[in-house]
Amino acid sequence: MLINTDIKLGDCKDVLKELPDNSVDLIFTSPPYADQRKNTYGGTRPDEYVDWFLPISKELLRVLKPTGTFVLNIKEKVVDGERSTYVMELILEMRKQGWLWTEEFIWHKKNCYPGKWSNRFRDAWERLLQFNKQKSFAMYQESVMVPMGDWAKGRLKNLSETDKIRDNAKNGSGFGKNISNWLTRDKAYPTNVLHLATECSNKHHSATFPEGLPEWFIRLFTKEGDTVLDPFMGSGTTNFVAQRMSRNSIGIEIMPEYCEMVNNYICPKQLKIA
Ligand SMILES: C[S@@+](CC[C@H](N)C(=O)[O-])C[C@H]1O[C@@H](n2cnc3c(N)ncnc32)[C@H](O)[C@@H]1O
Repeated sequence: MLINTDIKLGDCKDVLKELPDNSVDLIFTSPPYADQRKNTYGGTRPDEYVDWFLPISKELLRVLKPTGTFVLNIKEKVVDGERSTYVMELILEMRKQGWLWTEEFIWHKKNCYPGKWSNRFRDAWERLLQFNKQKSFAMYQESVMVPMGDWAKGRLKNLSETDKIRDNAKNGSGFGKNISNWLTRDKAYPTNVLHLATECSNKHHSATFPEGLPEWFIRLFTKEGDTVLDPFMGSGTTNFVAQRMSRNSIGIEIMPEYCEMVNNYICPKQLKIA
């Protein structure tokens, strides 16, 4: 199998137009947050953010396969003492564009040091919004299972009568659980909260995410040989991890120096795997 890593220079709003319809399995990205990093690569005002992003998400909707997933890492900032609402507005507008807002994951930055402003504490988490084109999409849940851990030892030792049968949710949601089913298992499904330290090793970009973040979503939503796209590539974390995991990838970046840096360290661009 041949694995390609394609790095493209330019504004993703334009460069995305070169990509064919329904060709990408996973879009994983962290765009510039409103008004942040102005000194390095610019920032869009919170009240203009939705209008700036919608033409891009329209192209992303076109290039994503019907079974594909779009994961957007974003966090609204505080403006004039209030949390800005642009992320919520963006979700509503993207739904009008045709996206389904399927899930929200939380990245808990577990090494975040404590801090305090006059009326709030330091941000220790970010959103990862999951969007899809349809209700049924590719998802490989077994690939992200976690060890059962100590929870099982205590919880499963003294089973009540309810634990031994399927206990249906009282709210009529259709969900139910049979705790005793887990007695013989050593792995469980994870929650939608990811506990990962922020990256300290990458000194070449001011806003990298840790490799573990794209890695978890690439495992969950793709298989070997699939294609991953990061339209706001930065230092290429998504592409680097995708290549290591034998996935094709496309990275788009507006700053020539980041493109050059990624081109230099992602080598070769085409890799033959068994
Ligand atoms: C938050 S950073 C991404 C960091 C990346 N996840 C990493 O781990 O290095 C956002 C990147 O998007 C780039 N960018 C901003 N606007 C862009 C646009 N319109 N098209 C393509 N890239 C853009 C910025 O130069 C910046 O490198």
